Amino acid sequence: KGNIAIAIDGPAAAGKSTVAKIVAEKLSYIYIDTGAMYRALTLKAINQGIDLENDQAILEVLMHTVIELKQSEAGQVVLLDGKDVTNEIRFQDVTTKVSHVAKHASIREEMVQRQQEMANDRGVVMDGRDIGTHVLPDAEVKIFLIASVEERAKRRYEENIKKGIASSMEELKKEIEERDRIDTNREASPLIKAKDAIEVDTTSLSINEVAGEILKAVAKI
Ligand code: C5P
Repeated sequence: KGNIAIAIDGPAAAGKSTVAKIVAEKLSYIYIDTGAMYRALTLKAINQGIDLENDQAILEVLMHTVIELKQSEAGQVVLLDGKDVTNEIRFQDVTTKVSHVAKHASIREEMVQRQQEMANDRGVVMDGRDIGTHVLPDAEVKIFLIASVEERAKRRYEENIKKGIASSMEELKKEIEERDRIDTNREASPLIKAKDAIEVDTTSLSINEVAGEILKAVAKI
């Protein structure tokens, strides 16, 4: 069996990257976190004081920006123009603003092109919002992960505790809901389940159970 493409989409904090990494590791595939690319661009735009509603200005920034996703022993490393921004792109400021950058059609067009190039050799697990619908419409396996907003906020909250970050469940819930609202309602490739995607509700499943579901779908190919 040749190498295939696996697309994992779904709302914010549904566990996409966690399971995508496990599946990629099990299959010895590469993992591509497309959200990290939008986050890196958002970080740069913020640092340059760009108006995030100005799609022309952001596109201008993107055209002069190199975003690299590297796999290291410690996990995925995100390089923005050669600088390690792996942690910085997860900061609150970037998280609350990234959907405003990602809603612009011209930005998405350029990002999708870069992502398609990265996935060219197959043997890839890619996660995001529009992978099954736009980036890899012919992916052999498409998964749409969902979970209740309460569960997603709870997982983020517990993740934060492990990282030593204090956060409020209510705030997390609000931030997740707001991001989903913008991602779902934008005109350019909104967050939506692809017709041929398998929906997996992870609310009461463990990470390994979710990964198992995906590997089962892969085995059927
Ligand atoms: O996956 P993550 O939560 O890190 O993504 C951050 C944001 O990037 C999303 O809320 C969304 O606005 C945007 N995004 C997107 N399309 C993708 C991946 C992420 O619009 N394929």
